[in-house]
Amino acid sequence: MENYKKEENQIIMCGIIGIASRDKNVKGRLVDSLKRLEYRGYDSSGIALRIKDGIFIKKRQGRVAELEEELKGNTFNSEVGIGHTRWATHGEPSCKNSHPHTDCTGKIALVHNGIIENYKELKKELEDSGHIFTSSTDTEVIAHLIEENLKEYTFIEAFRKAVKTLEGSFAIVALFSEEGSLYVARKDSPLVIGIGDRENFVASDVPAFLPWTDRVIFLEDGEMCKMTPNSVETYNFEGKSLKKEVIKVPWNLAQAEKGGYKHFMLKEIYEQGKAVGDTIGARLERDDEKVALEGDFPIPPEEIERILILACGTSYHAGLVGKFYLEEISGIPVYVDYGSEFRYRKPIINEKTLVIAVSQSGETADTIGAVRLAREKGARIISICNVLGSTLTRISDVTFHTYAGPEISVASTKAFTTQLSLFFLLALDLGSRRGFLSDEKEREYVREILSLPVKIEDILKKDKKEGIIREIAVKISSARNALYLGRNVNYPIALEGALKLKEISYIHAEGYPAGEMKHGPIALIDEETPTVFIATESSVLKKVKSNMEEIKSRNGKIISLVSDGEKELSELSDYIIRVPGINEYLAPILNIIPLQLLAYHAADYLGHDVDQPRNLAKSVTVE
Ligand code: AGP
Repeated sequence: MENYKKEENQIIMCGIIGIASRDKNVKGRLVDSLKRLEYRGYDSSGIALRIKDGIFIKKRQGRVAELEEELKGNTFNSEVGIGHTRWATHGEPSCKNSHPHTDCTGKIALVHNGIIENYKELKKELEDSGHIFTSSTDTEVIAHLIEENLKEYTFIEAFRKAVKTLEGSFAIVALFSEEGSLYVARKDSPLVIGIGDRENFVASDVPAFLPWTDRVIFLEDGEMCKMTPNSVETYNFEGKSLKKEVIKVPWNLAQAEKGGYKHFMLKEIYEQGKAVGDTIGARLERDDEKVALEGDFPIPPEEIERILILACGTSYHAGLVGKFYLEEISGIPVYVDYGSEFRYRKPIINEKTLVIAVSQSGETADTIGAVRLAREKGARIISICNVLGSTLTRISDVTFHTYAGPEISVASTKAFTTQLSLFFLLALDLGSRRGFLSDEKEREYVREILSLPVKIEDILKKDKKEGIIREIAVKISSARNALYLGRNVNYPIALEGALKLKEISYIHAEGYPAGEMKHGPIALIDEETPTVFIATESSVLKKVKSNMEEIKSRNGKIISLVSDGEKELSELSDYIIRVPGINEYLAPILNIIPLQLLAYHAADYLGHDVDQPRNLAKSVTVE
């Protein structure tokens, strides 16, 4: 796990396109490509074109359509150009921080996706040598570095030496006004080359150029290339020439935007290892195994008297898990409420109440209404949100962003696991600063949370390889009702698993505390009603086991989610799904993933529109 601290204006995800073509209509196609990359980020966008007397640049905050509007009436033709869409995670989206960026002379323009970790030192050196910067991004440093090298070397050598100086992750496409070539380099950030007929392309993702070619070269980390309309020369960062294979991608455009996945939901489920890794990695100092949040709480931690979590839907379920984390690790009493309920109540709140609002979109009307009420009553607000610049972030005192990247599918998945991860870090920080959590315990928790991305990937690899969850999903797809049962910190996972199934497969599913079965719901049990038990290793596993026996004795069908190595529960279960072991408080972040997949496969098998289920919207901006 890279323990980098995200600086101002550094971004997690964006879309890059470069075109070198004999057809001269590069401008229009750059914009078309940016539209196809917009699902990767849409705070701002920009293009650069090589024209007769230099480089033309146009950048715009907002959607690509607004950039397109501004370009209307502009008659520049060009054979070579680059474009960029930005998904900012730090700092308000702004024109000056949008890409492309240039050097002092304006002869070099470039776009970048990734994080340059040594940009501050490089910027200082360059400023000391007289370079003038116009933005606060890490990206601009690359342009000035090439410019500095150009004093002694040819452009390709200046580019290569600059790239070798960079630390961190980067996908770079650079344009030099004095030649009709593009220069490309890749390290730990996606870039793919498209080979056309008297034209070539480079992009973050295949969809950007798929209408014009399906023949691609996948650049590897540590590789670069020089591209013209008729040639693509590839090298490693040492300057050694490489022979790269051209591959035909088996996708149509619609599939490609999903990276080859059938639905955005499946793609987003499979992105969770990276999403959780990015969300926690930016906030951990790996050396001394401590949490290092980028913002502070609006109330001194020792003065917080209680925490109120406000959210809707999946985000509300994340808040229920957050309650366990905050009470257990920081010792502060926590209340969780639906936004739609809280806002019509007469809540008892004072200035020592910290509100944590949770929302993927940051636009959910009920959550926003609740936050406005809490603020009127004197509460201080922090938000956990996935969309920078959204309404919720603007009415919060502090926002902690999940770095999940755009979540397109209506059913929320990677937003949820990143919300839980962030709650855990907030709890560690509060617990440590209130003296409620020992340094030693904090280090132990940090080591555990760092193991999450690999364990998430293990679950996903197993799903792809074994297909057990798909088999179970097919079996339960004919059910009319289903029960999800869990205890303690897994009770909210029962609720979330049930929500996933009902919102995309339309099978009625109910999440319940396992201990509540005997107070009524057990009357529902029959051979047609599957019960999903979250029965992973925990302090209440024995209690869960006795609930399973109650169901089994009434001929209920049981699907059990158990920890690797668990043996006892097999004879009670009709189907077993195994997940890697981890600290019981972090287990919900792993446990939800098989339940997301169960819902996905059931809905897919039933032929439903998984990404846009009936009656639902991605963001409920109405009350
Ligand atoms: C979850 O799968 C649903 N899409 C829905 O419950 C969603 O979580 C809810 O509308 C809240 O949305 P938000 O996180 O954007 O506020």
